[in-house]
Amino acid sequence: MSGDARLPEGFVLCALDSVASTNDEAKLRAEEGAQDGLVITAREQVQGRGRYGRSWASPPGNLYASVLLRPDCPMAATAQLSLVAGLALAGTLERLGPPGLHVRLKWPNDVLIGGAKVAGLLLEGAARPDGRAAWVIVGSGVNVASCPDGTPYRATCLAREGFAELAPPAVLRPYLFALAEWLGRWRSSGFEPVRKAWLERCMGLGGEIRLRLDREEVSGRFVDLSETGALLLEQAGGRRRTIAAGDVFYLDG
Ligand code: BTN
Repeated sequence: MSGDARLPEGFVLCALDSVASTNDEAKLRAEEGAQDGLVITAREQVQGRGRYGRSWASPPGNLYASVLLRPDCPMAATAQLSLVAGLALAGTLERLGPPGLHVRLKWPNDVLIGGAKVAGLLLEGAARPDGRAAWVIVGSGVNVASCPDGTPYRATCLAREGFAELAPPAVLRPYLFALAEWLGRWRSSGFEPVRKAWLERCMGLGGEIRLRLDREEVSGRFVDLSETGALLLEQAGGRRRTIAAGDVFYLDG
């Protein structure tokens, strides 16, 4: 029961004021049996989290949203949802932005404008004993009004990129419609259309990158995405490595 015509069918919005992390709120509700499509937002987060346990600056004025999904797929396939959500978010920002704006994606889950990070995604999930997904939380943070200083990467916000003044819900609603559309495509046609669209929108394909992995750093040429969404890296001598998780740094330009 969505009851809100401004949301896609099956989505239910729970808008909170101040929370530790919308992902944590959504996880709690997932464990309590909440349904696919629950969206938790907050005006601010006091313990917003990024990938690898980093903190995510979360003052009022930006968008913090976590969507609970219960996809009927093996847990391993849920990594693809990061690319699904990235496409939805990048397309939404491009449509809301000034004419001619290009919004790009950085593997696996950053959204960039002019090479600077404007949004990040944090996916968290749990598996059932049979290895299929019990639930996945798609957490999205969009720098609408402000962005942090002193980050290890360049950051930006919509206010700085020529967008009209926007309140976070004005970004959330079109994003949820785009997400519903991309999820529908992923469910009906599989990962291939997502992979293709993602490669068209990504930054650095064919270029030299450095990848920070759990225990090592590797570099090479970013040549492709695998049929599961992993990054394919071509190293010196032509050896190809399939990378499932890591932080990308661009070395060209
Ligand atoms: C990253 O780029 O490292 C991911 C950032 C994800 C931030 C969002 S904000 C909403 C949700 N709640 C969190 O605590 N994190 C995600």
